[in-house]
Amino acid sequence: MGVEVTVEGLTKSFGRQLIWGDVSLTLPAGEISVLLGPSGTGKSVFLKTLVGLLKPEAGSIWIRDKDLPKLSEHDLYEVRKLFGVLFQDGALFGSMTLYDNIAFPLREHTKKSEREVRDIVMEKMEMVGLLGAEKKLPGEISGGMRKRAGLARALVLDPEIILFDEPDSGLDPVRTAYLNQLIVDLNQQVEATFLIVTHDINTARTLPDNIGLLYHRHLAMFGPREMLLCSEEPVVRQFLNAQRVGPIGMAEEKDADELAAEAESGQEIPPLPPVPVQLPPSNGLPRRTQRPPGEWCRQNGVTPPPGSFEGVDWTVPDEGTVYSSRYAQPVDGDQDTVTLRRREG
Ligand SMILES: Nc1ncnc2c1ncn2[C@@H]1O[C@H](COP(=O)(O)OP(=O)(O)OP(=O)(O)O)[C@@H](O)[C@H]1O
Ligand SMILES: [Mg+2]
Repeated sequence: MGVEVTVEGLTKSFGRQLIWGDVSLTLPAGEISVLLGPSGTGKSVFLKTLVGLLKPEAGSIWIRDKDLPKLSEHDLYEVRKLFGVLFQDGALFGSMTLYDNIAFPLREHTKKSEREVRDIVMEKMEMVGLLGAEKKLPGEISGGMRKRAGLARALVLDPEIILFDEPDSGLDPVRTAYLNQLIVDLNQQVEATFLIVTHDINTARTLPDNIGLLYHRHLAMFGPREMLLCSEEPVVRQFLNAQRVGPIGMAEEKDADELAAEAESGQEIPPLPPVPVQLPPSNGLPRRTQRPPGEWCRQNGVTPPPGSFEGVDWTVPDEGTVYSSRYAQPVDGDQDTVTLRRREG
């Protein structure tokens, strides 16, 4: 099912420059989470800190019973094998064929025979739709193919946690749609926990189970997709809806003058758009971690924007319905169940 990753009070600086502080979140096992944030807020630094390439000043990263920042180099090396990382540009070796690029981690980290290596490489190349391109060099293929080759390479060691740093940057909308489908299909097939950094709002709205937003040196919010898509919190709302009106300015925060000018100009914040249904796997089966559309909204008494979850029946059942979910806010001191409370009006 992949492993749960729990981050507690994580803080990272370079010299006197604080990148982000006191970040706490849990990546649920086997689920897809997306990390958003304006450019330069430290999303790549966060991924690198998770895999232990950068050391935080404070805080914990718990994977099973291990706290990564406290591990010795030797133990960290072992834990790193749990991770598959897709770097922003694919980070392929330009002078090696795709086959050799994808085989590289196996030859480097395992004692497998060339025959075993071949089976694994071909399996992963098939998974990402690259069969037939084994002998190509990275310079001879398109950006979309390079991303998929990077993904195949991230998968060969059967990682339990897969980190993607902007897998969709530089891709056209159609290729992005294919890549997102591939990610959902992979999530259904392989037992791993996914964390994806993206700037693509459509991806963020439809692909993940959970969304996080880094802003202004802290984690503004992290939670189920529906929670953030229905959020009225100004920063979350502005970012997830790609709006100009709001606290985020061209250079991170708007200053007091800019905010005053904005208020005076009477620019209205557009209403929240409908929550789309989640992208399903292409074989028609549910995701491994499928939750019913609207479940979070129902459990938390939140009325989603009109037109949400189009085509599916997510209507509010009778009051008093008892749900079981670890996402629900427990009432009556019960940790596992919650009683639905209908919103007034
Ligand atoms: N090794 C390093 N040494 C010093 N500063 C660094 C280092 N790596 C990153 N930074 C700084 O950390 C900040 C966050 O960088 P990061 O690359 O994580 O941003 P990002 O959120 O991924 O941005 P983008 O969306 O543009 O990719 C930047 O100010 C960057 O200059
Ligand atoms: Mg980055």
